[in-house]
Amino acid sequence: MSASLATVSYIGATILFILSLGGLSHPESSRRGNLYGMIGMAIAVLATVFGPRVSMAGLPWIIGAMAVGGSVGIYAARKVQMTQMPELVALMHSLVGLAATLVGFANYIDPIAALNLSSAEKAIHESEIYVGILIGAITFSGSIIAFGKLSGKIGGKPLLLPARHWLNLVGLLLVIWFGGVFLHTESVSAGMIPLFAMTAIALLFGIHMVMAIGGADMPVVVSMLNSYSGWAAAATGFMLNNDLLIVTGALVGSSGAILSYIMCRAMNRNFISVIAGGFGTSSGAPAASSGDAQQPAGEVVAVSAAETAELLREARNVIIVPGYGMAVAQAQHTVYEITQLLREKGVNVRFGIHPVAGRMPGHMNVLLAEAKVPYDIVMEMDELNADFPDTDVAMVIGANDIVNPAAQDDPNSPIAGMPVLEVWKAKTSIVMKRSMASGYAGVDNPLFYKENNRMLFGDAKKMLEEVFVALKA
Ligand code: TAP
Repeated sequence: MSASLATVSYIGATILFILSLGGLSHPESSRRGNLYGMIGMAIAVLATVFGPRVSMAGLPWIIGAMAVGGSVGIYAARKVQMTQMPELVALMHSLVGLAATLVGFANYIDPIAALNLSSAEKAIHESEIYVGILIGAITFSGSIIAFGKLSGKIGGKPLLLPARHWLNLVGLLLVIWFGGVFLHTESVSAGMIPLFAMTAIALLFGIHMVMAIGGADMPVVVSMLNSYSGWAAAATGFMLNNDLLIVTGALVGSSGAILSYIMCRAMNRNFISVIAGGFGTSSGAPAASSGDAQQPAGEVVAVSAAETAELLREARNVIIVPGYGMAVAQAQHTVYEITQLLREKGVNVRFGIHPVAGRMPGHMNVLLAEAKVPYDIVMEMDELNADFPDTDVAMVIGANDIVNPAAQDDPNSPIAGMPVLEVWKAKTSIVMKRSMASGYAGVDNPLFYKENNRMLFGDAKKMLEEVFVALKA
């Protein structure tokens, strides 16, 4: 393939990636967005593999590596449960970080890469290598720890070393100092020493940064690592003089940063305090030390599936709030069957989606789309929070933190200030879950004890099937 054809292909791929991101911003166009992304990536890979910079002799190696990597990818994607998705994503980010680090070293060792460079160009080239390896190594080790925490292999409790902020500051100063040393070395072998030293510090920093983060902040961290992996890819693009990698990396980097911001806002967390870590400490946590509002207040009223069906049958307006438990139970299809039945009876049924419901961004939207729930009845939290007072039944399916009134009422609650779906304002709220256990944030939920709340205990799918049968009868 000629150089100009490769360039044209890269421009085409870039446009497709931008269209892909645009498409993914709405459920209706998200399939198309995914398709654009897949075509763009196929073009990008083909244009690179058959492009002017790969020799014929290297081709079998690349094809072999792609076959191995592709097979592992297909196996992982088929095997992974929807609820394990964040772990898989974290693991994949680690690979991007590792790739950036290895490309950085390879580029530094490569005698051809620095050939014929003026001293200014050489300084720029080496700075790119240094920064690329730095971001790559942080992303690599941070993502491995994130994977460990999300999969439960490492405890979710934040590790708070004494003087940890000072440790980070010293690390940063050392990285800057080694950078200066690195740029002033003459030979590759001499440059390797500061480069290795900085890599070790970056790896430790990545581990320390994510170890200090409590379970409740993990979603933000995964999306932040997503952003880092984008910047690592962009840095690799600079090292390899690959425009497509620069653009794609910047797209991933900035969209990851925007997503982190949106998630912070949805959880009412300050981005800096997420990075500083420490939220969700088990012993010193606000959860344990907060006031009386945290204590279970009163009794809960349990209902049967038949009683739930009765309440639904009499309702005119119903809002369904799905959460993580719906994903665990895989209850989305049964939810939709009930929705269809109620709609046939003239009931106005809508879904209320919290931005961090479930365990990954858009988790509920994906499940509902899979069950073919029409998009026009799936609303965001802000779109229908004001409608709860006019709602007869708010049906909470396997959700907990996102409907916790303590976020509004108890300033001492660990989730204080987090926006929540105000289901308790409906005439009746019904919470479907297996027990009185708390949710992800580990805090008690006063909603369960409210007078107008009913609890339908059991696995969401099983209970919904019973409700469906009772409704049809
Ligand atoms: P949670 O607060 O975690 O509550 C889920 C509830 O589902 C649990 O209390 C559990 O109670 C119930 N459940 C589990 N399996 C069930 C089953 N088979 N049938 C019925 N119920 C079942 O979930 P949420 O309300 O969706 O809130 C999400 C939380 O996760 C937030 O705190 C959020 O910050 C955090 N988080 C979000 C993300 C993203 S990006 N969305 C990522 C990581 C963490 P029982 O055990 O009693 O059944």
